Amino acid sequence: MDVIQAIKERRSINFFEAGKEISDDQIRELLAIANLSPSSFNLQPWRVVVVKNPERKKVLRQCAFNQPKAEEASAVLIMIADPKGVEENMGRMLDSWQALGYMKPEMRETYKGMAQNLYGAENSLKRKIFAVKNTSLFAMSIMIAAMGLGLETHPMDGFGEECIKKEFNIPADKIIPMLIAVGHLKSGVTLLPRAFRRDLSEFVRFE
Ligand SMILES: Cc1cc2nc3c(=O)[nH]c(=O)nc-3n(C[C@H](O)[C@H](O)[C@H](O)COP(=O)(O)O)c2cc1C
Repeated sequence: MDVIQAIKERRSINFFEAGKEISDDQIRELLAIANLSPSSFNLQPWRVVVVKNPERKKVLRQCAFNQPKAEEASAVLIMIADPKGVEENMGRMLDSWQALGYMKPEMRETYKGMAQNLYGAENSLKRKIFAVKNTSLFAMSIMIAAMGLGLETHPMDGFGEECIKKEFNIPADKIIPMLIAVGHLKSGVTLLPRAFRRDLSEFVRFE
């Protein structure tokens, strides 16, 4: 499937074929493709908990305001934005830039300083925005890549973040921008046509 077709055909499907398995390898393939997403300073401040176990999906459903798709999808990805991604990944990122010739060794400290300035202190709002922004791009790549692998998705932010953190042992400083249900459309279900999109003239300005 080409990328334009994937974007045009992607839908948030409400009805998943319950009980249909996706292998761990297929989930890994999906995440590895999406892991090529761009990120600020290439810092990749995301983590994912893949929930496949039926009992764990039941728990997730309860945290997700009882939305059936949280249980019926083959897997539900808990998308985690990590504000500490700057500190955690900066060293390896600079090593790679250095090794590949993107920068000279003497530029390391300059780049570190630039990132600290751009993305703020560990607990700042700036840093949370940095983490959520990049994790959301990663999430969109997952949804598009899924189409190419013959999988359907549904993003969700209808959930209690504290509930998920508690039940799935996610540290308090992380942010959960969304869940992504992944699986196959329930057989016999036809989706309603795609709902309205605003006209470009409402939100686009050329200068
Ligand atoms: C971040 C995000 C969170 C969403 N959360 C929910 C949700 O909790 N429950 C739900 O039924 N749909 C949710 N949706 C799906 C939207 O309603 C859906 O994307 C929108 O209606 C457009 O439909 P389409 O994706 O089929 O084009 C969410 C979408 C996004 C991007």
